[in-house]
This record gives sequence, C-alpha cells and structure tokens, in this order.
Amino acid sequence: MTRAVEIPAHKDLEEILVTETQIGRRLRRLGREISETYGEEEITVIAIINGALLFTADLLRQVTSPVRVDCIRVSSYRNETRPVTEPEVFSSLTIDVENRNVLLIDDILDTGRTLSMVFRLIKTRNPASLRTCVLLDKKGRREVDCEADFVGFTIPDRFVVGYGLDFAERYRNLPCIGVLKPELQNPPEWA
Ligand code: IMP
Ligand code: MG
Repeated sequence: MTRAVEIPAHKDLEEILVTETQIGRRLRRLGREISETYGEEEITVIAIINGALLFTADLLRQVTSPVRVDCIRVSSYRNETRPVTEPEVFSSLTIDVENRNVLLIDDILDTGRTLSMVFRLIKTRNPASLRTCVLLDKKGRREVDCEADFVGFTIPDRFVVGYGLDFAERYRNLPCIGVLKPELQNPPEWA
C-alpha cells in the first residue's frame, strides 16, 4: 500500500515549523472561512508580493466567492533577516478598489509595519470593506498596532523561509515553512 510521504526537509533548514500537509489542511479551512464571510459578494484580493505569491495562489483555489486579483509590490528587507528600511511600495495597484470588498493578503505579520502601511494606503481609496489575511503571525514582534482578520498559523519569533517566504529571494519554493540554519543567514557570497 502506498502512503502519502512528506517531502524530506531541505538540507538548509535547521527545523521545520509547518509541514506541507499542515499548510494544505489549514488552507482548506481558511478558504471556507473566507467564503462564508463574503458569500456571493465579489472579493477584490490584493496580494503583497513577492511573499504572498504561493499562499495567495493556493488559498484562492479554496475560495468559492467571486474574486478579482491584483498585486502590490512592497519591500523593507535588503538581504537581511531584520527589516532595514521602512516598507516601500515599488509597484502599485492597477485595479480600482473604491466601493469594493478588499481582502489584503500577506505572507507574514511581523512588526506590522508592512500590512498597516498598505492598509492605510488602500483605505484612502474608499473601499466598501477592507479585511486582512496572513499566512503567519509572529505575535511577539509587533511594533505598530495591527492584527489580521484571517490568520493561518501563529509562530514564534524565528526567521522562517519557504512557501513564499524568502531569504535574499531564495527558498520561496520550499513546500514547507522552516528555520534556516544560522550559518546560512547573511553569507558573504550573497552580498
Ligand atoms: P513587517 O512589516 O515587519 O510586519 O514584516 C512583514 C514583511 O517582512 C513580510 O511581508 C515578509 O516579507 C517579511 N518578513 C518578516 N518576517 C519574516 C521571516 O521570518 N521570514 C521571511 N520574511 C519575513
Ligand atoms: Mg513580503
């Protein structure tokens, strides 16, 4: 008899915090929660990229409400494991959000600066409603008052990669979420 097998841990990970199976299971429930919240109302989804790419793609396949999608490119990291600048918008929205039910999606809520900055930006365009959804929540790290309406997993204050989360744009393709080995954080050859 064949059994479902987890893809083995990536050699660069010290520890896996969330497995591929756990992600799949949680996304099905999250998708149901979001579909129940919006019902037949159309959702204008704004994904904060690049981090929310994989999460958004998989989550939206579990949502039954009608959906429009756009992305906003925001960054506050420069190949570091801590933010080095205030979040900056590199590429803005191309669809209208006025009088729309907007759902803002990000990979992780850490200090809260990114999500609250984009939240404020969209709010100025008068959406009918504005909710937020994050895959991961590092509760202990908040620097500004910001909570998400939908949360995948609450995790401890560790720098994680995989499933969309990167270090210097690497590891986004890992199917699980894990902690990078300390010796691989900030290696000189990636500078
Ligand atoms: P915040 O603005 O501090 O809340 O950080 C949110 C952004 O920082 C996310 O969109 C991520 O891109 C990035 N980030 C925060 N923590 C991590 C992490 O542990 N791994 C990878 N990226 C992270
Ligand atoms: Mg990000």
